[in-house]
Amino acid sequence: MKPYRWMLAGLLLCLGGLLGAADGSPTYRGAVSAILGANCTGCHTEGGIAPFPLDDAEWAVKMAPAIASAVAEGRMPPWPPGEASPRMHGERRLSPQAVETLVSWAKAGAPLGEGENAAPAAGKPPARTPDLTAAMTKAYTPDARLYDDYRCFLLDTEFPRDTFVQGYRVRPGQSQLVHHVILFVVGPEAAQRARAQDGRDGRPGWPCFGGPGVGADTGTLGNALGFWVPGTQGTDYPAGTGKELKAGSRVVMQVHYNLSAPARPDQTRLELFLADPTSRPKPVRRMTLAAPVEVRCPPGVSGPACERGYALERSELKRVAEGIHWLCGTSVEDYLRRPLGDGSRQATHCDFPVREDGTALGVLAHMHLRGTAFRITLNPGTPAEKILLDIPRWDFQWQGEYWFERPIALKQGDRVRISCVYDNAEAILGPDGKPLEPRYITWGEGTFDEMCLGGISWVK
Ligand code: HEC
Repeated sequence: MKPYRWMLAGLLLCLGGLLGAADGSPTYRGAVSAILGANCTGCHTEGGIAPFPLDDAEWAVKMAPAIASAVAEGRMPPWPPGEASPRMHGERRLSPQAVETLVSWAKAGAPLGEGENAAPAAGKPPARTPDLTAAMTKAYTPDARLYDDYRCFLLDTEFPRDTFVQGYRVRPGQSQLVHHVILFVVGPEAAQRARAQDGRDGRPGWPCFGGPGVGADTGTLGNALGFWVPGTQGTDYPAGTGKELKAGSRVVMQVHYNLSAPARPDQTRLELFLADPTSRPKPVRRMTLAAPVEVRCPPGVSGPACERGYALERSELKRVAEGIHWLCGTSVEDYLRRPLGDGSRQATHCDFPVREDGTALGVLAHMHLRGTAFRITLNPGTPAEKILLDIPRWDFQWQGEYWFERPIALKQGDRVRISCVYDNAEAILGPDGKPLEPRYITWGEGTFDEMCLGGISWVK
C-alpha cells in the first residue's frame, strides 16, 4: 500500500474512533446518545415517568442489554399503532438502522467512546404562553395503597361564552406519577353532579376509571377535548380547526397515577390556546364508535360472577350496554352462541354509517385492561377498504388519540367498523395489585368492566 493510503486509513480509524469503538462498533458518545436523546429521554430522564434515565451514560451502559431487547422487540419507544395504520403525527418509531445501532452497541459490551455526547437530532419546540390555564383546585396525593389510582378533578375554569380551543398542553405536577390524562368536556348539569362527587371521600376529586361517571349525556369520550400521555406535550388541532366548548362548559380531568414511584402531592395543570373568535375555525367533530362488550369466562371457570346478570348489576352503564346492542342490531345471544376457544380471543365489532361528507383528521381508541387488539376500518370488505387505526397489541398504559399526517376523505354512505378483541383467560392484576377475578365482562366504567370505544375526529 502506498504511504498516503496508510495515512488515509489512519485518518479513517481516528474518525471511526470518534463515532465508533476501535472495532467499529457504535459508542454511547457517538451514535447511541443521539438516538436515545431523540427517542427516549422525553420520558427516560431524572424525574420522568420512566424508571431510569437514559441521558445518563452510566445508566445507559448498565441498561444496554435491556435497551437492545426492548427496541428489537418493539416495546420501546411505546407507540401502539401498528404498521397497518396510516402515518400519524409525532410517531415514536425507531428506524431499522437505529435499532441495529443500539443492538450492535449492546452486543459489543456498550462502549462509552470518546469526547462529548452527540447532540440529539430533534430539539424541543419553544414554549408558548397559554391564553388560559385550568388547574386542579387543590393538590391531590394519590393513594399509596394502590398500584394505579384513577381520579377525576373538576378544573377551576369556566367558559362563560362559546370558546374555540386550538390546542392544549398538560403540565403534570409530578411527572413520575402521572401516566395518562383524559380531558372530558362536561355541560352545566354534569358539572353540577361533578361538584357533588368532589371531595366526598375526604380527598380532592373522586375515583373514576373508565369515565368521569357524571352522566352518560355529557362527559363522554366522544365529546372529550383529548388525551395526554407522557413523552408528549399536548395537542394542536390541525390549522384552521378547533374544538368548540359551549358556554357554561367545564373540563373534568381524569388522571391515571401509576404508583411505582412514591406518592407525592400532585397539582396537574392544563394550558389552553384559544382561537381568535373572528378567525372562525372549523369545529372539530367526533364520530363516536362503540361495539357491544359480551366477554365470557374462560372454559372451566364458572360461578355466579360468570353470569351476565352479575356483571350487568355492577355496571353503572347498564343502559349503555343494552343501548349499544340496539344501535348495532345485535343481540346477546349472537355473542353467547359463538365458539369460545380458550377464552383469550373474544372479538366484537359494529358498523356505523357516515352521514355526511367530511374530512377525517384523526382517531382515538379506548379499551380497559382486558383489551388486546383494536381496529377502526373504513369501508371494510370492499375494494375501498382502508384501515384508519390498527393497534395490534393494546396497552391500557399507552392509550390515546392520533392525528393523521394526511387527512382522509369521508363520503356520505361510507361505513366505519370498530373492532376489539379481549382476553379473559390471562390472569391480570387490578389497580390494587391483586389479580382480577375471572368474571363475565360487560360495558362499564370500572376496572372490571370493558369498553370498545373509538372515535373519528373530523371536519365538514
Ligand atoms: C413515552 C415515554 C417513553 C419513551 C419515549 C421511552 N420509554 Fe422506555 N419506558 C417508559 C416507561 C414508563 C417504562 C416503565 C414501564 C414499562 O416497562 O412500560 C419504560 C421502560 C423501559 C425499559 C425497561 C422495560 C422493558 O420493556 O424492557 C427499557 C429497557 C426502556 N424503557 C428503554 C427505552 C428506550 C431505549 C427508549 C427509546 C428508544 C425508550 N425506552 C423510550 C417510557 C418511555
